[in-house]
Amino acid sequence: MVSRVIPVEPFDLVIFGGTGDLARRKILPALYLRHRDGQIPDDGRIIGAARSEMDAAGYRETVAEAVRQFVVPAKCEPEQLARFLERIDYVAIDATGTRGWGDLAERMRPDLAQAFYFSVGPALFGDLAERLHQHKIAGPRARIVVEKPFGHDLASARALNATLACHFDEHQIYRIDHYLGKETVQNLMAVRFGNMLFEPLWKNQYIDHVQITVAETVGVEGRGAYYDRSGAMRDMVQNHLMQLLCLIAMEPPSKFEPDAVRDEKLKVIRALQPVEADEIVRGQYQAGDGTASYRDDAENPDSRTESFIALKVHVANWRWNGTPFYLRTGKRMRARMSEIVVRFKEPPHSIFEEDTGQSANELAIRLQPNEGMDLTVTIKEPGPGGMRLVNVPLDMTFAEALGEEATDVPDAYERLIMDVIRGNQTLFMRGDEVEAAWAWTDQVVAAWEARGEKPVPYEAGSTGPEEALILMHRDARRWRELNT
Ligand code: BG6
Repeated sequence: MVSRVIPVEPFDLVIFGGTGDLARRKILPALYLRHRDGQIPDDGRIIGAARSEMDAAGYRETVAEAVRQFVVPAKCEPEQLARFLERIDYVAIDATGTRGWGDLAERMRPDLAQAFYFSVGPALFGDLAERLHQHKIAGPRARIVVEKPFGHDLASARALNATLACHFDEHQIYRIDHYLGKETVQNLMAVRFGNMLFEPLWKNQYIDHVQITVAETVGVEGRGAYYDRSGAMRDMVQNHLMQLLCLIAMEPPSKFEPDAVRDEKLKVIRALQPVEADEIVRGQYQAGDGTASYRDDAENPDSRTESFIALKVHVANWRWNGTPFYLRTGKRMRARMSEIVVRFKEPPHSIFEEDTGQSANELAIRLQPNEGMDLTVTIKEPGPGGMRLVNVPLDMTFAEALGEEATDVPDAYERLIMDVIRGNQTLFMRGDEVEAAWAWTDQVVAAWEARGEKPVPYEAGSTGPEEALILMHRDARRWRELNT
């Protein structure tokens, strides 16, 4: 594969919360890797901004440590790292006061592309936005980047949107959902809209149902305080799974352009039906072999928060009426696996004898691990013995099809941060999209709260609660195996 790295234009990127966990784990390593690949021009500069009193040299040490810790050793080259550190500066700043803002203003180059990464809690978004304006730091080419959680419900998301809108236009606001930066997620659009093969069949007439699974083996240890207020519905479904559902269900946009794509996704979210309480399964993991229970991890012995959720979702439009989407996501499950499965219907009439082994086609799109796709097709089993049919995968593991380099895909953050500098919002959520997603989520939460039900326990290292299996069994369907 030929490397097609196109350098971005010169920029100033300010990371508020520059010493925090997200900056150290994701943002700084991603920037280092883009630098190492030659995508960042000499004039690309990164300014950490945080409360801690330290100088640029001190911050460079923090950055170097983060890169050494979170970038794979093979890519952590001392010479490259030294050059990367030359781009780094630091300002000690008080987000809610006056300290540091003058300093920051002096360092900015107003004619360049500017990105302000709000890697801080949403409570500070308003203060930061206001001060960037008050101190005339944000120029006309300023963009701000905000992370989830973007609100806790519709009311708080609206309030956040309104706060940001006081100082920035929608085209300057980049709301990150890192799932949209994953290579396979973008590939999903390429497969749907770059081929003639699937689109004619992509509807209720030919598709029996869709499954979206995001299973994790980790628990919530260390993040219990945040997670216990959110649960799997708000932490994963409202954003990541909803985005995957949109990309599967949306109409073809007229162009691969930000508003064309986001308009189509918005229509899907608005077409989601309220979910009935008996189509929701919520679970909580129990203590496992050497692992604590959810309640212990969350340090809340009475917690009613779900660490697992499964839902049957209906998209009420012509294309999808009668074709359900089953979603499930959970922590401490048997395997780490994210996958979308599109299950086609059986052929309308079989010309073969019964019990010959014929079965419906399935297209599986694997996000992680082993990114790739496979399509199961029915063929004749070779050899004598009559017409015996067998289902085989037409496997397209990217590494095998395109060479090892293909698995060396950039992390979602690498892609997304470069898109901010390029000024491309296609893979970011628009304000109305986020609000529509919360409006639907609020209704789902209200459906279970009205029943006052507690989540059901499930075994750590399992596929989740039995009830989630039943959710599909009663429709005579089943989840695809959870394996890596
Ligand atoms: C985050 C959630 O947004 O996504 C986490 O807050 C979750 O709870 C994570 O673990 C999963 O991301 P990935 O990229 O590891 O699938």
